[in-house]
Amino acid sequence: MPKFRPDLADIPVYVPGRTPEQIRRDHGLDSVIKLASNECPYEPFAPVVEAVARAAAGANRYPDDDSRALREALGEFLDIESSQLWLGGGSSELIHTTALAVGGPGTSAVYATPSFVLYRIASAVALAKAIEVPLDSEDRLDLDAMLAAIRPDTTVVYVCNPNNPTGTHVSAERLAAFVHAVPDHVLIVVDEAYQELATAEDFASAVPLALGRDNLVVARTFSKVYGLAGLRAGYLVGSAATLAELRRIQLPFSVSTLAQVAACEAIKHQDLVVARIEANRIGRQLITEDLGRRGLKVADSQTNFVFVRLPMAPADCFQALQERGVIVRDMGEGVRITVGTEQENQRLLDAFDEVLA
Ligand SMILES: Cc1ncc(COP(=O)(O)O)c(C=O)c1O
Repeated sequence: MPKFRPDLADIPVYVPGRTPEQIRRDHGLDSVIKLASNECPYEPFAPVVEAVARAAAGANRYPDDDSRALREALGEFLDIESSQLWLGGGSSELIHTTALAVGGPGTSAVYATPSFVLYRIASAVALAKAIEVPLDSEDRLDLDAMLAAIRPDTTVVYVCNPNNPTGTHVSAERLAAFVHAVPDHVLIVVDEAYQELATAEDFASAVPLALGRDNLVVARTFSKVYGLAGLRAGYLVGSAATLAELRRIQLPFSVSTLAQVAACEAIKHQDLVVARIEANRIGRQLITEDLGRRGLKVADSQTNFVFVRLPMAPADCFQALQERGVIVRDMGEGVRITVGTEQENQRLLDAFDEVLA
């Protein structure tokens, strides 16, 4: 065996879960629905699929490493300079990049728990000490506690808004106050993977806050509302100077040509995005209210998933739903359920009826 880094065994492994096909076979089911990975339940928009098909013939060439066309299009869409945008192979890659760029021995990273598991993984890879701050009693990020947790050696703080796995958000006002209070030398990464789906009136993106400062980047993705998780494109908004530093860490050509073409096309179809947001809101409300009526505690979600605490062990609920062809995510403290299509949501609720009976 090669001599691996001694700390490698301590790095948590991201477990993506078993495939619907494996589960279908194991349980002898006719069909299985996957409500486990917060994916978009709908295919990419038809013009996006067509654009990707056309672009496939050019796949013998490396992609544009500067993602120029996509940065121009995104800059126009967001009404910001393209120099304030940087692309990655999914926002996961960009989050990883932030950890590596400011981490290292003798540094620490602050983030909430439970929150997106990548903050823990990326911090461990970056050899930064993890400082995990529990959510408040409403399952929201406790920004006051996160601020208090920042130490002299802290170089990064991750703010997942809305938060995965609880779906909860922090208000624009509270986020702005937090951002202003964090010392300038600490990088704030606001992860807005689900921001398009947030409908609360007091939610606001941190993009305007990022434009005027060097220590804040906003991470966004094409994997969720745009339904492009399989193509891998995400972006950061931040100051040109900060983005240039982060770029040093990134491997060349990490955003494929097809991902760039797909993202460029996808943002042209905001009418379809609006329809998806509304369908998701209706499904989220249905699941939240239905499970709430059964006495289950469902966190107030602004995303395409809901977090449910149960009167049984979450692992048992997860297993029982899986045996009925519904895959959710066991999060230890509860289960996380992705909002699906209308039919999928109904199947989930029917399966819950049986499991709770
Ligand atoms: C909070 C959060 N951030 C980032 C991501 C990563 O998305 P991607 O790498 O597909 O852009 C996810 C994916 O589930 C997420 O939940």
